[in-house]
Amino acid sequence: ARMHILVCGGAGYIGSHMARWLALRGTRVTVLDNLSTGHRAAVQWGELIEADLRDASALDRAFAAHRFDAVMHFCAKSLVAESVADPLAYYESNVGGTLSLLQAMRRHGVERLVFSSTAAVFGHPMTDRIDETHPLQPINPYGATKAMAERLLADAAAAHGLRSVALRYFNAAGASDDASIGESHHPETHLVPNVLRAALGTGPGLQVFGDDWPTPDGTCIRDYVHVDDLAQAHALALDYMDAHPGAHAFNLGNGAGFSVREVIAAAEAASGQAIPFSVQPRRAGDPAVLVAASDLARAALGWTPVHNALAPILESALRWHRAPTF
Ligand code: UFG
Repeated sequence: ARMHILVCGGAGYIGSHMARWLALRGTRVTVLDNLSTGHRAAVQWGELIEADLRDASALDRAFAAHRFDAVMHFCAKSLVAESVADPLAYYESNVGGTLSLLQAMRRHGVERLVFSSTAAVFGHPMTDRIDETHPLQPINPYGATKAMAERLLADAAAAHGLRSVALRYFNAAGASDDASIGESHHPETHLVPNVLRAALGTGPGLQVFGDDWPTPDGTCIRDYVHVDDLAQAHALALDYMDAHPGAHAFNLGNGAGFSVREVIAAAEAASGQAIPFSVQPRRAGDPAVLVAASDLARAALGWTPVHNALAPILESALRWHRAPTF
């Protein structure tokens, strides 16, 4: 029978791309989202159940109504600086939400989970490229909530046989090929949409948070990975669990870091517009450099990112930002 997957957080940026990716390949999708940051208009590839993960009776109704083969869990509050200012809300949503989901999966006998984790679990990198042997030492509450959730998955695997793969995204960017969905947060805090909206004149002037970081040009370095390449990795993670019980974690990035200034220059090239910016103080909770070593994901999952350079990532994001529908 056709696979049926519950995509929690499927109205959000990465979750909606996942729902599209699965549906285009013949998988049935049901989205569960509380629409706190997601968009109803981004749910185009399956039923929307409007509910909060911490609502156990809503989860019971969803799991009783459908026999899900697996769950993909993208629900989270995910802004580093906001997590520093309001940590308890982050623990409540990200740890409490994941706990509630795991309990519901256990009550209903669903045993496979792909979980959205983050490079923020590592804290300040101790190596140039971060692999899976790097210790988890988050430096902000957001990263701490995701590290705790990974621990929940490991303990649930050991005690209850829950199979899981945690995927630690570095910096997700880009939009679907047909520009039907893309990245849209209110307020927008992420670099790529802010740079492109500044280029197109549809957003405020660009601010650069610090040019005195210990990097070659003084701005922070990140590893940008296309949202559809992340979706591909989730689908591969489901297959991986067939042969691999237990809890697993993989880092997902392209292995190349780009500074904020380099992203601005690449966005100027993609858009043909000059992008002026003002330099502001450093942002709370930011590490200077985050670059992935994704060799394990490539080898174990067979992951082959296809948009693996900055220009195609920015070009796909730009197509969305020229005519966003939400
Ligand atoms: N930045 C600016 N100006 C902006 C926005 C961002 O200078 O308008 C800078 C930030 O200070 C940072 C870099 O651009 O140095 C990237 O910032 P983003 O907000 O785009 O992304 P983050 O690296 O802070 O966060 C992302 C995800 C988090 C995740 C983190 C680490 O949003 O969920 O990557 O993986 F935890």
